[in-house]
Amino acid sequence: MSRTKVLLVGASGETGGSIVNGLLESGNFDVAALVRPLSARKPAVARLEERGVEIRKCDLKAPEEQLLEALSGIDVVVSCVGPSEQQDQMPFAKAAKLAGVKRFVPCGFITIAPPGGIMWLRDEKEVVYNHLKQLGIPYTIIDVGWWYQFSFPRLESGKVDYAMTSANNEIVGDGNKITALTDLRDIGRYVALIIADDRTLNKMVFAYNTTMTQNQIYDLMEEISGETVIRNDVSEEMVYNRVISARQSSETYPFDPVKMIPRYLAESQLSCCIRGDNNPDYAKYLGYITSKELYPDFQPVDFREYLTTVVEGTAKGIYTDRIISRAHQRMFIRSDSSDSLYTRFFPRTTSSESLMSR
Ligand SMILES: NC(=O)c1ccc[n+]([C@@H]2O[C@H](COP(=O)([O-])OP(=O)(O)OC[C@H]3O[C@@H](n4cnc5c(N)ncnc54)[C@H](OP(=O)(O)O)[C@@H]3O)[C@@H](O)[C@H]2O)c1
Repeated sequence: MSRTKVLLVGASGETGGSIVNGLLESGNFDVAALVRPLSARKPAVARLEERGVEIRKCDLKAPEEQLLEALSGIDVVVSCVGPSEQQDQMPFAKAAKLAGVKRFVPCGFITIAPPGGIMWLRDEKEVVYNHLKQLGIPYTIIDVGWWYQFSFPRLESGKVDYAMTSANNEIVGDGNKITALTDLRDIGRYVALIIADDRTLNKMVFAYNTTMTQNQIYDLMEEISGETVIRNDVSEEMVYNRVISARQSSETYPFDPVKMIPRYLAESQLSCCIRGDNNPDYAKYLGYITSKELYPDFQPVDFREYLTTVVEGTAKGIYTDRIISRAHQRMFIRSDSSDSLYTRFFPRTTSSESLMSR
């Protein structure tokens, strides 16, 4: 039987890096990466090539004939592009349908949230999901909860700063909403299982490792580190005010990523910490199958073990190649010319796209 050929979009990114690892480690796939021509000289891309990943130079925004060429011989597409690039996947999905791709995994990989006005990023992704369904291409949507790597608070000693993109120490609402967590490194291992599984075709899958409340995470951090964690309480009302003001300042289109990031953060707090959306029961209500149901024997990275490595100073940081914003502490902006802040606006596809027949 021929091996499954996977084309990964975003292989040089954080999620993409995990997925490359998962696919290669499973040994079941031939892996190719769609790499923007201007990014082809990046060290990350050279490392992919050294590991046997075929590099296909092409931009998601390239003309259809180039997209078709990049998709030649591909069985499965997995896409993990940044927040501002979601709708760039739409012409690519159309080309994938024409090229006979057997499964398209669009860029989900976020926390659970309902569509329709709770989280802007979720809604950007839903536009793509609807496009896939209109095309009639086989798909799988994969969401993953919060990365472990984003979940823990800062220690006053500064000991864990090296592993953080944010100095966040907020307890939102009562801090007791259950939220699902996944180690970034496990995402690829889940993807390798999910894309080889017929049960997940045309389905939404929620792949997560564990569930915790914010208070439990902060308590665990105190226990492991022996330090007292500062907890800055943020009321429900304050979250609503943040959401309203972030939405007011990011209403116009195209979006300015500098305004979008505070909006994303405020809406995440609303969804995960006030509404409590990011939990397996609500995911099932929305129609997801969970990884616990599909793969009961999967051994994820243990959260306590991960936090211990963070405190010991041996965890791997994330987005270490980005400039961290002084203003927002949690935003990461690419510095190279191939991906400058001002080219990351959100293109709309023309309306004729949405009327395209299957
Ligand atoms: N659940 C969580 O806690 C969590 C946390 C963070 C992110 N996420 C989700 O994960 C998704 C991926 O985010 P990330 O932070 O992993 O992404 P990332 O590190 O910013 O990487 C984005 C990737 O997309 C590639 N790319 C961008 N535009 C492209 C184009 N036009 N053509 C081809 N490739 C293109 C980039 O390639 P270059 O090398 O050319 O730049 C890069 O490899 C996001 O959509 C977000 O929703 C979830």
